[in-house]
Amino acid sequence: MISNRSDDSDAADTTAVLGLPPDRTIGRRQFLGGTVGLLGLAGLAACTSRTSAAAAQLIRPTDALVQSAEARRTGAAAALHPVDLTARPATIDLGGPVVDTWAYGEAVPGALVRLPAGDRLAATVTNALPDPTSVHWHGIALRNDMDGVPGLTQKAIASGGSMTYEFTAPDPGTYMFHSHVGTQLDRGLYAPLIVDDPSEPLAYDAEHIVVLDDWVDGTGRTPDSVLQELQSGGMDMGGTSMDGMDMGGMSSSGGAPASPLLGGDAGDVQYPYYLINGRVATAPNTVTFTPGTRLRLRIINLAGDTAFRVALGGHRMTVVHSDGFPVSPVDTDAILIGMGERIDVLVTMADGVFPLIALAEGKNASALEIVRTGAGAAPTAETRPSELDGQITGALALEAAEDVFLPERRPDRTHDLVLGGDMAAYQWTINDRMYSKRRDLQVRPGEVVRLKMTNSTMMFHPMHLHGHTFQVRSATGRGPRKDTVMVLPGETVTADLVADNPGQWLVHCHNVYHGEAGMMTALSYVK
Ligand code: C2O
Ligand code: CU
Repeated sequence: MISNRSDDSDAADTTAVLGLPPDRTIGRRQFLGGTVGLLGLAGLAACTSRTSAAAAQLIRPTDALVQSAEARRTGAAAALHPVDLTARPATIDLGGPVVDTWAYGEAVPGALVRLPAGDRLAATVTNALPDPTSVHWHGIALRNDMDGVPGLTQKAIASGGSMTYEFTAPDPGTYMFHSHVGTQLDRGLYAPLIVDDPSEPLAYDAEHIVVLDDWVDGTGRTPDSVLQELQSGGMDMGGTSMDGMDMGGMSSSGGAPASPLLGGDAGDVQYPYYLINGRVATAPNTVTFTPGTRLRLRIINLAGDTAFRVALGGHRMTVVHSDGFPVSPVDTDAILIGMGERIDVLVTMADGVFPLIALAEGKNASALEIVRTGAGAAPTAETRPSELDGQITGALALEAAEDVFLPERRPDRTHDLVLGGDMAAYQWTINDRMYSKRRDLQVRPGEVVRLKMTNSTMMFHPMHLHGHTFQVRSATGRGPRKDTVMVLPGETVTADLVADNPGQWLVHCHNVYHGEAGMMTALSYVK
């Protein structure tokens, strides 16, 4: 696929791109005590032994190979869709609670961005925040230099600055965009991104986007203060005492939120609010359709630390997509969705008033939206439809549709990722190291690469790979195509990808606090 030879001579020297100031992810007091430096050296040594990587030349975000991959994705007829985004402080009414936060424009979620597959987005981002920012286009197989990761693919957009992200969106599906600086994702800096299929194979009458979030910003705390709490003495339990907690291990005792569905701890943060489309459960949005409508729900989890169990009272639903890619349809009562995941379902609307409920899994709280097709009183915030306790389907139970299934091929390269952590220090790791400038998951263009992710902690990690969609291999070799997959405690998830999008790509836990506290690394293309 990738003819890299002819382009080698054009490879720009972009040392400056990678020679940026230290990643904000490790800019925390307790990470500067020396461990990071030592571990960084260990990382280099590991690389050297693995692929003689010291000699390998990184394919940087501005490499000609990145440009030629983009050219191959872009048809002559690709139209350009300009969008203006301003990241700015905003005062937002969540339906009672009014919070000062940071948002794209004056709404949370930010305004939908939508374009047909194969077209180009040109998003000019103006930074009116007091801090640097960036935008990541989550799930899109885009050109590496537009991926929005400061320190890896670009310089952060300085306060008062701006940047235009311009790229082709090759694959239809449900995506999202969000800030990729610090804990900014856990403010209001996010929005849905839909890439339409010009020849949509699914038959439905209407669609509705359902953005899930957990909310703390502007309630007397910010995501940055939450991270500080976590780093200075253990988990935030919303007031539960940490005394008696086994701080050395990843024990789920002592009042941590827990869930059998998640195989252990359900999160590190008990939030004051959980939201559907920016509203608390006591003041939900209402959406209206006619009975019999075949409705596509595009469910997006943009939470920082919360998996949701989602059901529509009075209805079964049919799961049709996972992370933008089609799956063999599965009928279910409820779905389980981790941070960074998207699940699309079809439902045929009955006649009446129904709760669309998102249970904050293991956290004893929920978010609500009302779906109305007829007369009747709206369900209240306390409603708990029986579907929530019926058949619950997570993405790992799904199988890619035949036309997107990646047939099993002997991998050219396997990378093991052991997910670990030290709860006492609130440091989360991949292969015993926190994120740094290491580039130890090296791949070459055109290879089939297997990622084996093993969770050695007591909490689930939704692992996200930028710029690619991998094929999860269950025991049968099937499984869904995804860019974000929940790895439960004690489990191993195997995922194969074709290395067809050269550049430097982040791999990380989509729990914003885990990522920020170290659980990130890079899938690094080399020549
Ligand atoms: Cu949605 Cu690197 O993340
Ligand atoms: Cu995690």
